[in-house]
Amino acid sequence: MDLPVTKQRPSQPATRSNPALRGEAFAANCAICVRNLNHTFGEGELKKQVLFNNELTLARGEIVIMTGPSGSGKTTLLTLLGALRTVQDGSITIMGRELRGLSAQQLGDVRRDIGFIFQAHNLFTSLTAHQNVRMALELKETDVKEMNRRAEAMLEAVGLGHRIHYKPQQLSGGQRQRVAIARALVHNPKVILADEPTAALDKQSGRDVVNLLRKFARENLTTILLVTHDNRILDVADRIVNMVDGRIISDVMISESQAICEFLRRVPLFSGLLPDTLTKVADQMELVECKAGDVVFRQGDVGDNFYLIRSGEAEVVLEKSTGNETVAVLDEGKFFGEMALETGEPRKATVRAKTDLHLCALDKTEYESVRQTSATFKEEIGKVLFERQR
Ligand code: CMP
Repeated sequence: MDLPVTKQRPSQPATRSNPALRGEAFAANCAICVRNLNHTFGEGELKKQVLFNNELTLARGEIVIMTGPSGSGKTTLLTLLGALRTVQDGSITIMGRELRGLSAQQLGDVRRDIGFIFQAHNLFTSLTAHQNVRMALELKETDVKEMNRRAEAMLEAVGLGHRIHYKPQQLSGGQRQRVAIARALVHNPKVILADEPTAALDKQSGRDVVNLLRKFARENLTTILLVTHDNRILDVADRIVNMVDGRIISDVMISESQAICEFLRRVPLFSGLLPDTLTKVADQMELVECKAGDVVFRQGDVGDNFYLIRSGEAEVVLEKSTGNETVAVLDEGKFFGEMALETGEPRKATVRAKTDLHLCALDKTEYESVRQTSATFKEEIGKVLFERQR
């Protein structure tokens, strides 16, 4: 039998589901917690209040986008959360640590555990990409070899392995922003604050940047607060918070189905489906969460579901009398489990989570109905089946 497919959609931690139900368990799981926050600039007659009674809670691993007109207080809030300003009135806790009342040095300690990404990426122009990224490690790490290794690995992870010794002027805007992201992520922060990280980028570079951030957040349970006006990237978030005139006026969950729908739209197998069908399929999909090492199903099992990988990696292992052989490693957007549904035969291989894995599962009946509806789907499955059976 396949792993049980839960009706509750577990890619959302249970605590994320309904703010009204968030109790003590949520507080423990909370990465950023803002309570009754006010902030004022200036003195005397020039005194101007810019933030009013703000409340905001972000769970660990949650990605939240904050939007709102310029001058509405978003950046002030972001700098307060990033321990770049002193909290005057109200409370902010970051990973359980209260910021109010901290000394300048203590605020500095908090900053070291946060990754910052800004629109103007603030790279040092005289340093190479590698040196810029390494700087973020120098505050904590002392082993030079280890620092070099991690900086290099992080640049590789953002697709810049071939540019590590280039200086910022020799890189494109998108590449520079990826260096800034590598620098923000290299010390494995649990919280990332990003201010308009895609504003200066073209559509594809912007998409690459948010995909990178999302992948990192999912894999490391990192919380990301992203201030943006860029409506091309809204689908990356779990929630959208809107700020107007210094007040958070709405805090909207992006429904899980909508998020799956956006995901399916980007997967070639599903891209040929009409919007209505896509929505229906997304509604029928259930999320399955596996930890690295979990077996999704075993060779020889009866197949009930088709699986699409939403994040992480799965390995396909053939169990033979002569030993096990890994025949493929599949990642985001790839699928498996189609053979048993197509042929009615038992599973041809064992599939195991290589990393933590989020899957979208479609049961046999729904799979059959999509197959009947979409010629592209049928054709794509046919091609892959042919490749895999060879
Ligand atoms: P199924 O037989 O239902 O269950 C095991 C799955 O592993 C199978 O469907 C395919 O989706 C997948 N699979 C089998 N062989 C390969 C291969 N060579 N490359 C990639 N995936 C494979």
